[in-house]
Amino acid sequence: MDRPFVRTGALMELASYPHWLQDVVAACSDAKHAVVGHEIFQQMHAGVLPPAAMRKFLASSWPVIEQFPQYMAMNLLKVQYELGTAHAMARKYLIRNIRVEQNHVEYWIDWSHGHGMQRDDLLFGWRCSSADALSHWCWHTCERDPLAVAMAATNFAIEGATGEWAAFVCSSPVYERGFPEDVRKPAMKWLRVHAHYDDTHPWEALEIIAMLIGHRAQRREIAKIESAINKSYEYLRAAFDECLATQIHMPFGSRDAAAEKAVAAA
Ligand SMILES: [Fe+2]
Repeated sequence: MDRPFVRTGALMELASYPHWLQDVVAACSDAKHAVVGHEIFQQMHAGVLPPAAMRKFLASSWPVIEQFPQYMAMNLLKVQYELGTAHAMARKYLIRNIRVEQNHVEYWIDWSHGHGMQRDDLLFGWRCSSADALSHWCWHTCERDPLAVAMAATNFAIEGATGEWAAFVCSSPVYERGFPEDVRKPAMKWLRVHAHYDDTHPWEALEIIAMLIGHRAQRREIAKIESAINKSYEYLRAAFDECLATQIHMPFGSRDAAAEKAVAAA
């Protein structure tokens, strides 16, 4: 590393980061927009997403929800405290965020219950191949790639985009009102905890990436980080596209007609 990076500007301002990293984020912005502005969230936000597509979305996203702490655990194994401040920060960040994720799988199950799905629908039911590709990609990059690349793919790209679409879905009461009152609170919990407009996690990840690599990144490092961020966005978009696509038989889903009717009628 030629020159270490020490942030002096605001955490959540892109201008606070090295030029090469600002360029990477800018180069990935179209792919990110295709995720956070995806039609599936437009329809969810407006309360018009067909129940079958909603269940496909919940079932297909499950592996990444369930495995996210494991991705971070694989990155934690790469941390070497003696390598300096960036590693010390990564250590703290990963340990803290693994703990934050502790209850999120249960919240996802509660959300799915709100759409008439049972635990087995998530664990053993159908999910789209594109969503499997997303979880395989996350596992692969966290297992094999350097810390900065894997954190860019997961903590920066996936957590960042997720916070934004969750905030968008929560920004109108329409979707929330689709749930009967007795299940509304648990069904909305996952979205609520991920919908902080001021969520600092992706920015903290960006700071760690900048510190790990420094002001002067090598061309191949830049290419690898940009490709990892773009891949995560592209796999997310492909998974959401598939959830919206043609009707596919779900072995466990669609059993609770009453719950489906309640949401559809909203
Ligand atoms: Fe989470």
